[in-house]
Formats: sequence, C-alpha cells, structure tokens
Amino acid sequence: MKFYTVEIEERREFGAYTLLSYRWPGENIEPGRFVMARAAGYPITLDPFLARPFSFYDFVDGVASLLFEVRGRGTELLDRALGTIEVTAPLGKGFEIGVSGGRAALLGGGIGVVPLKILGRELAARGIAHDVFLGFLDGKTAAVADDFPGAAVATMDGSTGVHGTVLDAAPDLREYPVVYACGPNAMLAAVKGAAGPDGLRQLSVEERMGCGNGSCNGCVVPVDGGYVRSCIEGPVFRAEVLAW
Ligand SMILES: Cc1cc2nc3c(=O)[nH]c(=O)nc-3n(C[C@H](O)[C@H](O)[C@H](O)COP(=O)(O)OP(=O)(O)OC[C@H]3O[C@@H](n4cnc5c(N)ncnc54)[C@H](O)[C@@H]3O)c2cc1C
Ligand code: FES
Repeated sequence: MKFYTVEIEERREFGAYTLLSYRWPGENIEPGRFVMARAAGYPITLDPFLARPFSFYDFVDGVASLLFEVRGRGTELLDRALGTIEVTAPLGKGFEIGVSGGRAALLGGGIGVVPLKILGRELAARGIAHDVFLGFLDGKTAAVADDFPGAAVATMDGSTGVHGTVLDAAPDLREYPVVYACGPNAMLAAVKGAAGPDGLRQLSVEERMGCGNGSCNGCVVPVDGGYVRSCIEGPVFRAEVLAW
C-alpha cells in the first residue's frame, strides 16, 4: 500500500482526544471513509510494523483532519509526531447520503463520534436536516462535544449532559427515516435495535485492522451466510446486513 508523507498543519487537544490535520491534495474525502496512518520515518515505521486505521474527522479547503485517542504504541507515536506523519489515500466505503429523504439522526459513542463531524458538514451542505447525539464515558472524553454545536450529550458518569448512554440522550429513533451511527459494537447493536428495520440505517464499525487493503482478513464482520472484510465492504454497513 502506498503511503504519503504529509506535514502536520495543526495539532489540537480536545480533552482526552488529539486532532491532527494535514493537507490532502488528492481526491475529495467522503464521510465515513478512513485512512491508515502512522508516525513517519525509519525505524519508527517498523515498530509498530502496521499502520493504524482512523476515520476522517473533517475535510475543509483541502485540509484533512484525524481525531484520535491514545490507546497503545501506534496512537502514542502519532500523538508525539512532530512535523510529518505517513498516510494512505482515503480507503473503504463511506456513508450513503441523500438516498432516502427526511431528517437524519447521527449517533456517536466515544471516539466513534469522529466520522459524524464530516458527515454533518456534508448533510448541511446538501440541506439535509439532522440531529446529533453523542455519548461518552466522562467529562474529559466529552470535551470534543464542544465542536458539535447543538448536539445532545450523555455521559456514563453523569458529569456532562444526560446521565447514561447515547440512547438516553436521543428520542425515539424509529421516528427518523435516516439513522447513522459509529461506536463500539455493543452500542451499534443497541442503535440497530432502537432504530428498527424501516428507513436507512447505517453503522460504521471499528474492527481491528491489519492491512486496510483486503489482504489479511483481520477485520471481518459477520453477515448472513459468512463474513466480509470491513476495510473493503465497509467500514460503513447498512444495519440489516450485519448479523448482530
Ligand atoms: C475504520 C476504523 C476507524 C477508526 N477510527 C478511529 C478514530 O477516528 N480515532 C481513534 O482514536 N481510533 C479509531 N479507530 C481505532 C484505532 O484504529 C485504534 O485505536 C488504534 O489502531 C490503536 O492502535 P495502537 O497501536 O495505539 O493500540 P494497540 O496497541 O494496537 O491496542 C491498544 C488497545 O486498544 C485496543 N484496540 C485497538 N484497536 C481497537 C479497535 N479498533 N477497537 C477497539 N479497541 C481497539 C486493543 O485491543 C488494545 O487493548 C478506528 C478503527 C477502525 C477500524
Ligand atoms: S484489514 Fe486486512 S483485510 Fe481488512
């Protein structure tokens, strides 16, 4: 897979999360697509050997941004990166937009809020009304909600917004003809159940990925009759396709 060395244009902290932006002169970036990214330069590129997947947070005037939580060595090195990082071109299949009319509900859990920023921007550009619901563990992770004006927020510790899960901050999802969600699988399964089968329901999964280009089978998700690779067929799936 081809990696491009790009200069970091901006670094910002949102509570527990870090935002890194870089100029992307290539194709337009559609909401829900992802990138494999890593800290730049030998020998760092050997440890960890594999780049890590990240959803695009935003794309404005040719500047792409990623927002991430430090979990292990890959994200720790990105967090400390100075000057440049290495990224692939945009990968995977993003959200379907405008295929079904009506108001949309956008739900994000934890770092799963990431693709909702660029998605909300695209919906607004197309004049599609939408409501945003965000769920977090605590006030520190909820800090990024400031970047989603008008969003309803829930925290598990009750320190910000409603006390509970993102579903506790949302009204009856069955009233929305379009529902988009990203977060841990348990949250996505709960959203799928709450939204019901009617309308367009799209879920962005965050399975662990090795290659990001379909060659390792490390990112499979269950579907009726077997498994598919989420880096190729996803990471965004229609809810009814996922067998959970
Ligand atoms: C399509 C996609 C989009 C993603 N978008 C983002 C994003 O925008 N921002 C962000 O912060 N993260 C995102 N992730 C998750 C991110 O890729 C992982 O946090 C990262 O790979 C961890 O790498 P590491 O080397 O820091 O940690 P590792 O050392 O690889 O792992 C540290 C810990 O994190 C856990 N972990 C690693 N990957 C995942 C995962 N996918 N889901 C749950 N737990 C995991 C491991 O089990 C381990 O306990 C996304 C993942 C996918 C597949
Ligand atoms: S990450 Fe390797 S096949 Fe999807």
